[in-house]
Amino acid sequence: MGMDYSSMDQWILGEDSFDPTHLGKCEAVMSLGNGYLGLRSATEEKYLGETRDLLINGTFDRFDESEVTELPNAADVTAMELWIDGERFSLDQGSHTGYRRELNLRTGELTRQVEWTSPRGSRVRLRFRRIVSLKRLHDIALEVCVTALDQPVSVKLRSGIDARVTNTGTQHFAEGEKRFYEKKYVQLLETTKESGITFVLNAVHRFARNGAPLELATDVNIDRRVIYADYTVELAPGDTFTAEKYANVYTTRDLDCAGLTVPQLQEKTLDDLKESAALGYAALAEESAAQWREEVWDRAPVEITGGEKSRMDLFSLRFAQYHMRLMLPRHDNRMNIGAKGLSGEGYKGHCFWDTEIFLLPYYMFSDPEAARKLEEYRYLSLPGAHRKAEENGYRGAMFPWESAWLDDGETCPLYMGTDILTGTPIKVWSGIIEQHITADVAFGAWQYITIAGDEDFLEKYGYELIMDTATFWASRLEPGEDGRYHINDVVGPDEYHEHVNDNAFTNYMACWNLNKAIEYYQQLQTENPALLRKLEEKLNLTEAYPRWVDGAEKIYLPQPTAEGILPMDDRFMNGQEIDLSKYKNQEFVAGIMKDYNLDQIQHLQVCKQADCLVLFYLLEDRFPPEVKRASWAYYEARTIHDSSLSLSTHSVQAADMGEMEMAYDLFRRAAAIDLGPYMGTSDAGIHAASFGGVWQCVVYGFGGVRMLNGKLRIEPHLPEGWDSLAFTLMWKGQKLQVRAGRDGSATVENLTGTAPVTVTLNGVEVQR
Ligand code: BGC
Repeated sequence: MGMDYSSMDQWILGEDSFDPTHLGKCEAVMSLGNGYLGLRSATEEKYLGETRDLLINGTFDRFDESEVTELPNAADVTAMELWIDGERFSLDQGSHTGYRRELNLRTGELTRQVEWTSPRGSRVRLRFRRIVSLKRLHDIALEVCVTALDQPVSVKLRSGIDARVTNTGTQHFAEGEKRFYEKKYVQLLETTKESGITFVLNAVHRFARNGAPLELATDVNIDRRVIYADYTVELAPGDTFTAEKYANVYTTRDLDCAGLTVPQLQEKTLDDLKESAALGYAALAEESAAQWREEVWDRAPVEITGGEKSRMDLFSLRFAQYHMRLMLPRHDNRMNIGAKGLSGEGYKGHCFWDTEIFLLPYYMFSDPEAARKLEEYRYLSLPGAHRKAEENGYRGAMFPWESAWLDDGETCPLYMGTDILTGTPIKVWSGIIEQHITADVAFGAWQYITIAGDEDFLEKYGYELIMDTATFWASRLEPGEDGRYHINDVVGPDEYHEHVNDNAFTNYMACWNLNKAIEYYQQLQTENPALLRKLEEKLNLTEAYPRWVDGAEKIYLPQPTAEGILPMDDRFMNGQEIDLSKYKNQEFVAGIMKDYNLDQIQHLQVCKQADCLVLFYLLEDRFPPEVKRASWAYYEARTIHDSSLSLSTHSVQAADMGEMEMAYDLFRRAAAIDLGPYMGTSDAGIHAASFGGVWQCVVYGFGGVRMLNGKLRIEPHLPEGWDSLAFTLMWKGQKLQVRAGRDGSATVENLTGTAPVTVTLNGVEVQR
């Protein structure tokens, strides 16, 4: 595989040889999108083993009772099959030279070029371009250019809308109307079977020869789940044929089409398509690139200077920022971010704690408005959280481990993978007992409120969310014989250990949640009794408050051993130690599951991912440095980083401890999760949380940024090979420019300057 990044600038992800055996990697890492839709970068011509995904955020559908809800794969608009002198263009036929595919992160445009010789010897140069508009959220535009190289060629193009796609075999759609308008506009409707969401897709082509517009005869075809046309053109040597394709997709769940009937939607979307097509590919690409600049690159610029390594590091960070925009539903608070973003069918589009703990920091510090939407989603999904609590015999809000549409409640599948010993599917306990998610959601809301200084959110949603989640924890605690409250039978963040008692992460975070609710309650007593009365009615606080107080006082909090190691639960440290070198150096994840089943892994000292270490930096000042250091050494030796959420946490902690070489090495490995050389890693989609993790390595780890007890701390320490690091932070409505040097020097400038900001900069409190 020839994936590279250009060392001349830090914006281009390139591929210089086509590998038909590993299509998934580039389809996912080079995917396009805008938070409304995600488009995998499958090539225009089709190959065996490809995955053509067009996923529209929030359009969940449940095939039947035996499956969980998922984002359905919408009809494909990207396929454009070509025949050159009657031979089908395909890179596994004939021969080719000059292949290059590039994703430009700055503009969001994907390009590809190649010179192809057909098996019978016809030679053409092909150029492809495509964008998903960041300006017009429903729009996709593609362009194909074919140049006859040394003899006349006949080119046939087949293109349209193809609904013969599934989610790995599951068909979510009932077929709807298909139509040609004016012999050139193609329209296809399809409706999800359970959730009843109608998708309307449109497409139209524009042709040119050597730049001059060309009208081509249309050979129209409507068939089962497909609508397309064939177009034929004759080229003299040196002639270039250009086919532009404009497509759009809308659904009856879209906020910007609320209230429209399906026929009205058909009409509106066709009009919109006409408008986009009239603008032309170049203008659409330009306005989309301008939007990228405004929304991402000018909003949250990062600069790293230094040697060659630092250029690669800056590229990795921009790659993370690029994908974090692709997955972000900035337009709608009724949806969130899937663990694979919108780049593949993995994890079915469900959101996890990945949002609050790994991704939210980037959004809060760069785009607080968007961060607010993600948090509003959690508030709006309280009905599902109430239902989950009730179903499990608890009170308050118990958030689902996997979350999809607002009122779905838990959507985690019950089985996944194969048990190597029994040969049966593995039961997934996370949806039932991975309960720390409830405290993570509360923590995320508090972080957002504090960093953005968003009092409005606090009043409308924040108090309620944090109190309602505290009520869940108070009802979840189990009295023990020692007079303390315990949380038994859970899965902590480390998913290789199931049915443990007193997982440190869970207990400390639950305790934090209870205390935050108490603090807010007391704050409202003096500052806003009217709001407290309203909440009292809604949440029955007279009964809840004393339970929170009792719970917070008596919850059992695991304490460090004499060696300073925080036990992650009541069992781990008594487990058997085994040699993990095989699993630590593997090219793929979960290799251990090929040797042991989960029942056996329970009794081994092996962690899938960071557990207590996440706690150390969320509740940073609760644990002394010696405990963090001893625990880091103990757990890192036992962690095989089988989750993409693991490496970045270890890197940030290592940077906090001043272990810069280690921190840098872990950061590089975190950045390689999707960008690295291993070809199978991204087939089901990119790893959303790891992108948040990469940003955290740079800004939290090397930049030394943290929000501690409501205050902003900045204490940079750059790794070897970096001369300087500069980034911006949004803090309570003010945009701050932070610059850090290799020598530990740091400056903060308030670019907004409408209100003073207090920062603890390298240990000294300063006002900006
Ligand atoms: C990890 C979880 C994570 C999920 C989605 C799992 O493999 O163990 O911590 O939330 O993937 O990314």
